[in-house]
Amino acid sequence: MSTPAGGSRLAAVIVLAAGEGTRMKSATPKVLHRIGGRSLLGHAIAAARAVQPQHLAVVVRHERDLVAAHVAEVDPKAVIADQDEVKGTGRATECALEVLPELDGTVLVTYGDVPLLAGETLHTLVAEHEQSGSAVTVITAHLADPTGYGRILRGEDGSVVGIVEQKDATDEQRAITEINSGIYAFDAAVLRTHLASVGTDNAQGEKYLTDVLGLAREDGGRVSAHVVDDLWQTEGVNDRVQLARLGRELNRRLTEKWMREGVTIVDPATTWIDADVAIGRDTTLLPNTQLLGATVVGADATIGPDTTLRDTEVGDGAEVKRTEAHLAVIGPRATVGPFSYLRPGTELGAGGKIGGFVETKNAKIGEGAKVPHLTYAGDATIGEGANIGAGTIFANYDGVAKHHTTIGKHSFVGSDTVLIAPVNVADGAYVGAGSALTGDVDPGQIAVARGRQRNIDGWVARSRAGTRTAEAAEAATRHTDSSSEGQDQA
Ligand code: UD1
Ligand code: CA
Repeated sequence: MSTPAGGSRLAAVIVLAAGEGTRMKSATPKVLHRIGGRSLLGHAIAAARAVQPQHLAVVVRHERDLVAAHVAEVDPKAVIADQDEVKGTGRATECALEVLPELDGTVLVTYGDVPLLAGETLHTLVAEHEQSGSAVTVITAHLADPTGYGRILRGEDGSVVGIVEQKDATDEQRAITEINSGIYAFDAAVLRTHLASVGTDNAQGEKYLTDVLGLAREDGGRVSAHVVDDLWQTEGVNDRVQLARLGRELNRRLTEKWMREGVTIVDPATTWIDADVAIGRDTTLLPNTQLLGATVVGADATIGPDTTLRDTEVGDGAEVKRTEAHLAVIGPRATVGPFSYLRPGTELGAGGKIGGFVETKNAKIGEGAKVPHLTYAGDATIGEGANIGAGTIFANYDGVAKHHTTIGKHSFVGSDTVLIAPVNVADGAYVGAGSALTGDVDPGQIAVARGRQRNIDGWVARSRAGTRTAEAAEAATRHTDSSSEGQDQA
């Protein structure tokens, strides 16, 4: 994204977000619904920030506290403007001007429910507006079906003379297919002056922002249109069908952007990448992969198929297949999956391995360490080069508190072991398979914590006489020279 044109006087962007959005049929305010990992309003704010205005105001009213809290979270520097009971886009804009300092220069107005508008488009709008010395420049588009939109009225010479709303338009005006996107650049003084004289004498009894264009023109100002061909950028979300439609298009744009940056995406249609994700070159994304939130993937990695990574960091050359991970760090050249679940606080070192059917949580796994099969590792530190056998459980929770387990460097935990935390296995130690470990193990030791094996001679003949098992035992005994004494075996 480029910075504003040299000499631009972009005083403010005003994002209108006071509308109710009834067609969403939702307890959540419309502008807080999400696509691409951000709220609709978050996308609008990101586009606004891309042109680096001196001030950014968001106008709120419906569910004002929820929306204001969200704005404070995504953009603490944005100013909240409360719209009063006077309705309309003009009143909304006026309410923003009231809470901002006296502005001088260019003011943009955008909508909180138009998520695909690009910062680059606003940048072009500002540049055109300022170079042409216009009082107002409006983004317009030609729609096959312009129903519902304000129509752009042009004079004999083709210049813009005003905007008429669908509900106020004559049949002749309704036949116009050039529509008002609702996104404008205004000269601050023009906006302030003419908004003050806009009334509510129209079909909807609202104070229309669109009336400012006609007034500016009558006053001798120049009103320009910036026509966009990319209709997606002006499309607002009104219901959940549009939410999904724009969500898919946003994803199409994001997957395309990453492919152009050198990422192989085998099936873009089933690969979902959030707006804030970053991916290195020559990484391959296999079908059904979702990279969400603030996930960062390095170069030469392979992710997927069927993998969901949220707020997760993956190093260069790592391989992650059929895995769910949240707030995890996967080191360079490490391998994960298939069928594993990495929960917050998982950190897998360089070249380490988390294999199949493994769940980890708050687990620091050292360089080259391996947790290959069927393990739960929670609240654990596993040293570099250590090996955790199949079916090992880090029993971290006693029903009241969570406890930590440490496995030292190059130590070896045998299969089907329960490590009952808190417990420490030193560097260079072994734990015998099937142990239920409750005490620490020192360097060089092996700990074996399980019942000893007892073999009882003749038990099958005595207790299971007449069964096939007894027959097999008899046959085997007859054909064998070796007779086994009852003996203990470790
Ligand atoms: C408005 C334009 C119309 C344009 C259309 C593009 C006016 C009078 N009309 O239509 O020419 O074609 O947008 O979508 O401006 N909002 C507020 N406060 C309000 C009313 C609206 O903040 O009192 C916000 C809404 O949250 C929304 C945006 O303004 O983000 C547009 O409102 P909406 O009602 O969808 O647009 P219209 O007024 O129908
Ligand atoms: Ca609308």
